[in-house]
Amino acid sequence: MIERILRADVFAEESFDDPPGPPLFAAEEALLTKAVDKRRREFTTVRRCARRALARMGVEPMPLLPGLRGAPGWPDGVVGSMTHCAGYRGAAVASAARVLTVGIDAEPAQPLPDGVLDTVASEVERKRLSAYAVDRPDVAWDRLLFSAKESVYKAWFPLTLRWLDFAEADIEFDPAAGTFTARLLVEDRPLDGFTGRWLVAEGIALTAITVPAEG
Ligand SMILES: CC(C)(COP(=O)(O)OP(=O)(O)OC[C@H]1O[C@@H](n2cnc3c(N)ncnc32)[C@H](O)[C@@H]1OP(=O)(O)O)[C@@H](O)C(=O)NCCC(=O)NCCS
Repeated sequence: MIERILRADVFAEESFDDPPGPPLFAAEEALLTKAVDKRRREFTTVRRCARRALARMGVEPMPLLPGLRGAPGWPDGVVGSMTHCAGYRGAAVASAARVLTVGIDAEPAQPLPDGVLDTVASEVERKRLSAYAVDRPDVAWDRLLFSAKESVYKAWFPLTLRWLDFAEADIEFDPAAGTFTARLLVEDRPLDGFTGRWLVAEGIALTAITVPAEG
């Protein structure tokens, strides 16, 4: 499903449950000694997804350990992103020679809990969401906006190793085209923004950003 919103040179694998599979590496297991069952399941399945995607690039199985601020550590020459939520796990990887950065995010396609939108969206963004809902009342636009911001952060962080606040990206969707733009509102930045794609299917809201390496 997520490959529908990624460039063709990104390899993605996903899962809608937690089927049995190869064991984790010892270094990964060591991170789960105090983990609750939910965390163990999402951590394990998403890494199996990532290793399947890496195998399609010819990369042998290896531990995928969280690095600085939780960003996943990928093998040299690889960029990627992982996401998990109830009913979905997904991983996307690409050659760094072709792709500068990737950010993917999945959320249940349900409205955000009360009060959350005000903490993640500006007044302008909230007004836009109301306008999108006129033509597409079937889409939980507030959740999709949240997902787009998470994808922005996952694409931004590996490039800059810096925090980005929810107020520091202005998101605008094109409901008909299935795309969005994120304008970065920070002064010291390697690029002006990101473009991404969105999809709601099987009860999951998905967003994805792929920045090509050229240009
Ligand atoms: C880190 C964060 C983006 C994760 O998103 P989430 O929707 O909570 O959770 P998801 O399941 O979709 O993603 C989790 C995965 O994100 C990845 N991730 C975590 N920190 C990351 C970082 N700093 N950079 C890139 N990827 C990161 C990891 O692979 C993680 O999975 P893992 O712990 O199993 O390795 C989120 O928790 C967060 O801290 N957000 C605040 C920053 C932000 O979003 N700013 C908005 C900018 S507009």
